[in-house]
Amino acid sequence: MDMMTRIATLTSECLASTWPEAQGLPTADEIRGLLAVPPNREMGDYAFPVFRLAKALRMAPPMIARTLCEKWQSPEVARVEPVNGYVNFFLNRVNFAKETLDAVLAQGERFGSSDMGAGKTVCIDYSSINIAKRFGVGHLSTTMIGHSLKRIHDFLGYKTVGINHLGDWGTQFGKMIYAYKTWGTREEIEEKGVTELLRLYVKFHEEAEKDPTLDDLGRAWFKKIEDHDEEAIAIWEWFKDITLKDAARVYALLGVEFDSYAGEAFYNDKMDVVIDELREKGLLTISEGASVVDLEEDKMPPCIILRSDGATLYATRDLAAAVYRKNVYDFDKCLYVVAYQQDLHFRQLFRVLEKMEKPWAKDCVHVSFGMISFEGQAFSTRKGRVVYLEDVLNQAMQKALDIINEKSPNLEDKETVARQVGIGAVIYSDLSAGRIKDIDFSFERALNFDGETGPYVQYTHARCCSVLRKAAEMALPEMDYAGLDDDEAQHLLRLISRFPDVVKDAADKYEPSMITHAVTDIAQAYNKFYYEHRVLDAEPAVSAARVALTKAVKDVIKTGLWLIGIEAPERM
Ligand code: ARG
Repeated sequence: MDMMTRIATLTSECLASTWPEAQGLPTADEIRGLLAVPPNREMGDYAFPVFRLAKALRMAPPMIARTLCEKWQSPEVARVEPVNGYVNFFLNRVNFAKETLDAVLAQGERFGSSDMGAGKTVCIDYSSINIAKRFGVGHLSTTMIGHSLKRIHDFLGYKTVGINHLGDWGTQFGKMIYAYKTWGTREEIEEKGVTELLRLYVKFHEEAEKDPTLDDLGRAWFKKIEDHDEEAIAIWEWFKDITLKDAARVYALLGVEFDSYAGEAFYNDKMDVVIDELREKGLLTISEGASVVDLEEDKMPPCIILRSDGATLYATRDLAAAVYRKNVYDFDKCLYVVAYQQDLHFRQLFRVLEKMEKPWAKDCVHVSFGMISFEGQAFSTRKGRVVYLEDVLNQAMQKALDIINEKSPNLEDKETVARQVGIGAVIYSDLSAGRIKDIDFSFERALNFDGETGPYVQYTHARCCSVLRKAAEMALPEMDYAGLDDDEAQHLLRLISRFPDVVKDAADKYEPSMITHAVTDIAQAYNKFYYEHRVLDAEPAVSAARVALTKAVKDVIKTGLWLIGIEAPERM
């Protein structure tokens, strides 16, 4: 049990024994929610505002605080002080250090994990790139938020299913086949990959401007794909392979994996049942020839299920996908990590599922996020240039290597570290602000070793590793927990003790940035501690305690970084 929960429980017991008759007192859980960490240390480690009790106890808050302090006793707390309407708790520092440190040292990198998700399954739809398009930075956030949510849920004991819902269906694929057969060659596509596919696609549109009959020819090829024409299917599958081969390089750099690549086309033969069900339930109406689910009473435009020519749509595929996922994975939650531009689509989708009386419609969640933009000329997307994620990652690695060559030219295996730091910097930038905020990426900011950045946190981890390497060569005695009663160590311990809650909150709110903040705070607190105190050459039993704290910090930072998809080099 963490210290805050412990204090809340004790407070609740103390309230009950002091005022056994009182009605409407807050529960231990509610008290935990009310406990605050005071802005400055003189006001204690935790503060409990008693205002909410005034009504139940019919007593003025300062009086409640005083009475509570008189009754309070427990070894965990060194002293309690009433200050107006607050009870300020001063922890027994040695005891707190022992409790916290022992817990981390026992669990190591598993500290913060849990089995709360045991027996539950979470599907996570993320990255979900589009075939025959380059992997642009626009798909970075979905990829990394989704990947992080997958790791967080794994860590909390859930079974997770990572799904890359590929955009691999639509008339554009007919146009691409036409363009390939008219202006392309197999060799060039094999050699240049998606870049060549894009060139052909652009070419098609240029030519179609001049000669509108091309659109019909493109559509005819798409019809062939739909009709399972062997040649058409083979070419379309090949476009997919080419795209996924390009994407695989990006996924490898990011360390991202999926359990399923079932994309839109996968649902081709799974939509009919859903459409029949909609019809049987009387949910389909005809509007301008199209079959739609009317959502007027929900103040939304209708959800189009079949176009007037009978073609299915993005939403039709998503309906079939949701039903399929429920049937196959029996998820307790299905997360869709998709940009906020698709808010309406998912509101419609979930509402249609509700109208179909799927009790699990409420378990579908749109985890939306803001836009990413790039500062500086070279990255102006306004000029219509897509910024390729692979280019950004390669540049980040190169810049990281330049910095390493300058700062630590003798480092072993510089390329690996440059990869970890460069990629880490990009991921950290992406996951540092709340997900709904728009973010602006800048290499200079991302790779600043002194700011709130990936490299800064990684550097702190490497610093801990270096301290531990040196400590391993010393013969230190058993630690004296009293050596951790200074303000800096206590602050660090407090941040560490909160880490398990941060992980759970991050899962509850689908917000990896909460973990980014927590590891950054811990890194900053460790560096402050490191500057203010001698770790290795203090009194030996105190050194031993500080080394143990260093080990705890190292483990928690490594875990936190792992949860947001960032590697933790041991030397930098
Ligand atoms: N491929 C889509 C896009 O890039 C995202 C798909 C998201 N997933 C889904 N089930 N609709 O915009």
